[in-house]
Amino acid sequence: MPESESQVLASYGIEAQTANPPSQPCVMVIFGASGDLTKRLLVPALYNLACDGLLADNFAMLGYARSEMTNEAFRAQMTEDIKKFHTRQEFDQEVWNNLVSRFYYMSGGYDQANFQKLKAEVANLSSQHNTSGNILFYFAVAPRFFGPICDNLHQAGFREGSGWKRIIVEKPFGTDLESALKLNEEVLAHWNENQIYRVDHYLGKETVQNLLAFRFSNGIFEPLWNKNYIDNIQFNVSEEVDVGSRGGYYDSSGVLRDMMQNHMFQMLAYLCMEQPGSFEPDAIRNEKAKLLQAVRVYTPDEVARYVVRGQYGPRADEAGKVTKPGYRQEKDVPAESKTETYAAARFQIDNWRWEGTPIYLRSGKALWKRGTEIVVEFKKPPQAMFNGTAVPQLHPNRLIFHIQPYQGIEMQFQAKVPGPTLQLQPVNMRFSYADAFKASRYTGYEVMIYSCSHGDATLFSRGDLVEAAWRAAQPLLDYWTATPAENFPNYERGSWGPKEASDLIERDGRRWFEVVTDGLLKRVALFQDGDMLFLSQVIQALRPKMVGADETIIRKGEIGREMYLLARGEVEVLDDSGKVVKVLKDGDFFGEVALLMSTPRMANVRTRTSCDLFVLDKTDFNRILHDHPQFAQSVMKIAKDRYSVK
Ligand code: NDP
Ligand code: BG6
Repeated sequence: MPESESQVLASYGIEAQTANPPSQPCVMVIFGASGDLTKRLLVPALYNLACDGLLADNFAMLGYARSEMTNEAFRAQMTEDIKKFHTRQEFDQEVWNNLVSRFYYMSGGYDQANFQKLKAEVANLSSQHNTSGNILFYFAVAPRFFGPICDNLHQAGFREGSGWKRIIVEKPFGTDLESALKLNEEVLAHWNENQIYRVDHYLGKETVQNLLAFRFSNGIFEPLWNKNYIDNIQFNVSEEVDVGSRGGYYDSSGVLRDMMQNHMFQMLAYLCMEQPGSFEPDAIRNEKAKLLQAVRVYTPDEVARYVVRGQYGPRADEAGKVTKPGYRQEKDVPAESKTETYAAARFQIDNWRWEGTPIYLRSGKALWKRGTEIVVEFKKPPQAMFNGTAVPQLHPNRLIFHIQPYQGIEMQFQAKVPGPTLQLQPVNMRFSYADAFKASRYTGYEVMIYSCSHGDATLFSRGDLVEAAWRAAQPLLDYWTATPAENFPNYERGSWGPKEASDLIERDGRRWFEVVTDGLLKRVALFQDGDMLFLSQVIQALRPKMVGADETIIRKGEIGREMYLLARGEVEVLDDSGKVVKVLKDGDFFGEVALLMSTPRMANVRTRTSCDLFVLDKTDFNRILHDHPQFAQSVMKIAKDRYSVK
């Protein structure tokens, strides 16, 4: 290796990785193999493992479902599907041929006669592929079949004989506390807890697994990881997708069951739990369970105070014509559905570490962008020392875990702006996975299949964990059933969500942290030609604000303290007589002239619809102007065209 290259690697601290052993030999039986999960995620995951040399040679997959198919037809179908769903840059035909030749299929129902036949077939494959009697059962079917399949497998005698027998159970694990308790009872009637692997695919994400690595392999943050230094923590899972063709399933679920009770509570547990004694699966799962058991179980009054829900409505074009349906117009969704597609909540963890630290969670479908982030906001330092300086207010330090689609970690802090007077600017340090690691994109299911084959349950949920999560979620479900939402739909498709969500956090004197991307800014005329430095200064300075319809944002004659970027919605500019002289829409901005020219506001500006806005405060505006004089020219040019300013 040339010296310069080795220096670069050394600066990243990259050492030779120990090679991972392949998965353990087994026959993997997938129930529901004719379905969506198998073709879209499980088979691509097996293919990725095979490509990376992580799948045992002694491996066979037996697909099982009621649809009639021969082995050949199944292989042909999988071969067609893998071309669509593989996640690698290039497709390796040789690896695939080898893998698919070890795929088999058996059609049958979920009864004893069929399971006896299944037993004979698995025994046959086990000896043909020399898999030592190890069997991995994957339940890729609807949850109502989980209990009956466990029962039938037991009756057919699958527990007996040499080799390990393990069961991977898909989500959702129950639909409420009662059904989860019952399901645990059914599943554990004949199988041991250490044979049951409950999937939560968020735990398969590298960025989620890294939460543990980050917390426990670095010395500097753990001493700060508590109520004394952390002001609040925010978990955000925004989805741009709507419910699509899954309306039937989703309408009986809603975002609380679909995302919060499982994926988000798992991330919460990783981020907030105590240090486990080791990386042993149960050491970690014990701490996660303790944490989830400490999440306060709300009274109905607390639910009313700390939780809001939303449902998306349609998106219309400028003429008011619906261009994309609202939730109630989606396929298989009742026209009066009260199911929530958005929720925001403030939770409390009643333990020594976190007592009094608000933990905010929010998630929704059909929002303005896809993005999952965890924001740890530290307490602000005292302002007193900066009184009498040009620093109007201090910002909190933030540690941001970008889970997806951008993957990275960012630390935000203040730095002195170069110059003779004391001025501060928020800046960041950023680690990006793409810059530090070279790895193929995975589906998230590889590590699940791989670690289950090795009997490592770290990334799977345990019965008591699932129950603890349901216990915290149940009061929300009960309250919502008792008080059906009257104001649905209450957020527009493509927006930031319902205004109530921003009110919820603003009541606490805080605000949601929104990740602003340079892609977003580049859609705005004012920022289109901006270089990276300019855009990054703007991104750091913008703060989000949601405003309801018919509210006055700017009053004529007032001193301008901020300018606005309209991410979504419509505002009207009014003349003295109250006549609308201009309507501004998504991507427009306003309020800049008074800042630039230090004149009073020239017109009133009022929201016509609910609006999602980014605010740029005057001090930040001036600082950016100072560094980028061309920004002033762009602002002036647009203002001249718009308001005939001389
Ligand atoms: P599908 O709707 O595609 O169904 C899976 C299989 O179930 C079908 O292939 C079908 O096979 C079988 N099935 C359908 N109806 C019946 C019935 N009445 N009796 C017996 N079998 C039936 O589901 P998915 O593959 O999407 O999901 C499987 C599991 O994975 C579910 O628990 C889901 O919640 C979970 N999951 C799915 C994800 C995804 O992205 N798809 C993501 C996360 C979890 P056949 O008719 O041939 O028997
Ligand atoms: C699934 C939910 O569990 O997770 C879906 O059922 C959701 O509704 C999906 O879209 C999100 O997963 P990801 O990996 O895209 O964030």
